Amino acid sequence: MDVCAVVMAAGEGKRMKSAHAKVVHKVAGKPLILWVRDALDEAGAKEQVYIVGHKQEEVRQTLGEDVAFVLQEQQLGTGHAVLQASHFLEGRNGCTLVLCGDAPLVTAQTLRAAMDQFAEDKCAAVIITADAPDPTGYGRIVRDSTGEVQGIVEHCDADEKELAIQEINSGMYCFDTALLLSSLGKIGYRNTQNEYYLTDTIGILIQEGHRVTTYKTVFDETLGVNDRIQLQEAGSILNQRILLRHMLNGVTIIDPKTTWIDDSVQIGRDVIIRPGCTLIGKTTVGQASVIGPDTHLAEARIGNRVILNHVSISDSTVADHCEIGPYANIRSSSDIGSGCRVGNFVEIKNATLGEGTSVAHQCYIGDADVGVKVNFGSGCSIANYDGLSQARARIGNHAFIGSNSTLVSPVQIGENAYVAAGSTVTEDVTSYSLAIARSRQVNKSDWVRTRTRLRGRRVNP
Ligand code: UD1
Ligand code: MG
Repeated sequence: MDVCAVVMAAGEGKRMKSAHAKVVHKVAGKPLILWVRDALDEAGAKEQVYIVGHKQEEVRQTLGEDVAFVLQEQQLGTGHAVLQASHFLEGRNGCTLVLCGDAPLVTAQTLRAAMDQFAEDKCAAVIITADAPDPTGYGRIVRDSTGEVQGIVEHCDADEKELAIQEINSGMYCFDTALLLSSLGKIGYRNTQNEYYLTDTIGILIQEGHRVTTYKTVFDETLGVNDRIQLQEAGSILNQRILLRHMLNGVTIIDPKTTWIDDSVQIGRDVIIRPGCTLIGKTTVGQASVIGPDTHLAEARIGNRVILNHVSISDSTVADHCEIGPYANIRSSSDIGSGCRVGNFVEIKNATLGEGTSVAHQCYIGDADVGVKVNFGSGCSIANYDGLSQARARIGNHAFIGSNSTLVSPVQIGENAYVAAGSTVTEDVTSYSLAIARSRQVNKSDWVRTRTRLRGRRVNP
């Protein structure tokens, strides 16, 4: 069957109170409109046309080149919106799915089920409906005494009896393409909103002797996003779906209420995610790693059997068997080799660490290439910025950097070299050498008494 789709996305979305088009706001890391597009792709809708209007540039950019666009200059109603796609639909057979760009929760399964029913019932249209706990604001499905659909009545045009109907129009439909086109030409705008209602096509088709049926789904799938509260609700439902998917794939998630994972994240088997984690963007996690508690991964690539405890990692890679945290920050294209230890209060920025390197306590490693099995004592830092520009440091394999040393970049520490604790290194250190770059200690005997600086009780008068 030839499957087309028309997605209405021209509305302004005033209640979002945003500088951006409503449908480009993200839920679970993906713009609303891309959730709709992905569901359509998965359901097999090859030809998709998007009705754009308000802030259309943003919407076009978000969707890219693979779909078609039609401009609806004035938003005169949902019927008017779909009418703009007439040229696109003319001459096509099969069915057309009509969806709203701001309803991201619809699944491909539901769309497929509606299309299957359309084919089975040989009807003019299938309306996707749901029983709403509170149907206020929605169009209601009106049926005759035998249960056949008679039409859809909008909330504001409904009488008391119709207002009591729980079954609502989701705003999503599967139409016979030719019949959609012919009925669209017949709708008017004489209603309380003076709009061209797409829903009127249903009544018209039935009056013309065609049959319209419904496919009922769960109310969640019909949720539309009109304001930031509904944006949060939709995000929360999608997040739970994503978490379920990972759990079914072998990931342990200790606390789904405080775990937020974007749709694009990939996680291997036997990973354990402790409470309070966010995994966003194209983050990947290998097998059997333990993430969290309170860990933030953005565009992070994490290997197998890595332990991350209270850490933030962005745009960086951590290889297998590393142990990171608590309270470490790894960012800006850093690359941590396998088996490294990055400990508490350590920041790593735009640096590579070779295998088995240890930076265990309170260090800053910025703009550096560090070899394998290097050891940094506590409190080391790389002075990578002179106030005007940044420079890199190179630290060879097996080097040992004593506690509280500062390496002033650009500087090179050779393989197997030692830097004495408390050094400020401004010159390169050759391999196998020891650098001591600090002033010698001076002990002044009896200084306290001669300067009458005694603070406590005299011990030996
Ligand atoms: C519509 C349905 C209603 C259904 C509800 C489900 C009609 C007349 N009513 O009502 O039965 O219960 O959806 O949410 O269709 N849009 C355009 N151009 C326009 C008008 C709207 O692109 O000229 C887009 C909007 O941006 C939105 C979608 O169409 O994405 C739905 O429009 P909206 O005004 O929200 O329709 P509702 O009044 O909610
Ligand atoms: Mg609406």
